[in-house]
Amino acid sequence: MTHSQASRPTYSASNYQVNYRGNHQPIGVFDSGAGGLTVLKELERQLPNEPLLYLGDTARVPYGTRSPEEIVEFARQIITWMVGRNVKMVVMACNTSSALALEKMRQEFDIPILGLIQPAAKLAINQRRRIGVIATPTTARSHAYRDAIKGRSPSTAVWEVGCPEFVPIVEGGRINNPETLDIVRTYVQPLLDQGIDSLVYGCTHYPHLAPVLDQILPGAIARIDPAVSIVRDAKEVLDTLKLHHVAPLQNHRFCVTGDKAQFSLLANQWLNEPPTVDQVSLSATISPTLIYPIPLAI
Ligand code: DGL
Repeated sequence: MTHSQASRPTYSASNYQVNYRGNHQPIGVFDSGAGGLTVLKELERQLPNEPLLYLGDTARVPYGTRSPEEIVEFARQIITWMVGRNVKMVVMACNTSSALALEKMRQEFDIPILGLIQPAAKLAINQRRRIGVIATPTTARSHAYRDAIKGRSPSTAVWEVGCPEFVPIVEGGRINNPETLDIVRTYVQPLLDQGIDSLVYGCTHYPHLAPVLDQILPGAIARIDPAVSIVRDAKEVLDTLKLHHVAPLQNHRFCVTGDKAQFSLLANQWLNEPPTVDQVSLSATISPTLIYPIPLAI
């Protein structure tokens, strides 16, 4: 069984309740940059009471042209950093990390870690049978989506296209530039030529390109956003482990490893409230301002 075919482990209260100290702690959410904000918004929609600790690894974006080894190492550093801040669960809001690093991280860390690929495959096959996937080159090369979809529904046809130019467009704030339409069309046209009936956003940056895709995709083609399904999964795990946050909502925290300014600009456009963003070093000692309170008794 390949990484992408492996289903979510069964998280049981007896395994985890002892180790994870309680529902006050945030859910850690990470991506290479601002793409994961599409998942964060879905978390806010489905789980409005949960405090979130968001990390955008903007010093190293884009991930999607990097080697599998780098992706694994970056995930390891980020999850180590998040565990140091007492997260109760990690949501990989990054398809590239989910495709390349999820299973390894589940072996290395004793904390629930959720990835995007399997929940998205489950969602996709419920809907259609000719599925196009736009993804980063590293995700497309891994065939994580093809394997996950065909693992569930062998007769479903899947085409994956790596789109190296999309993340720089989104991170660079160039979505509305005139040349973006032609660039996006170049990558999507081969999928249209195959007669796809649905399109998976195989990178969390891509839902930001929806206004451009609206001009290219016929309305009959369903869009599948894995954010919806990973958050359903997160909700189920919180249910099972009885880890839902019950106290009044704490503010989310937003951290980046690179420059704060560009991330803040994008986050201000996409989130309801302009966030305060901290720049952090993943190897630095824990800053007390970033530690969430741990309940004294559980
Ligand atoms: N948003 C991430 C993904 O879903 C990473 C994209 C990138 O940095 O290339 O794959």
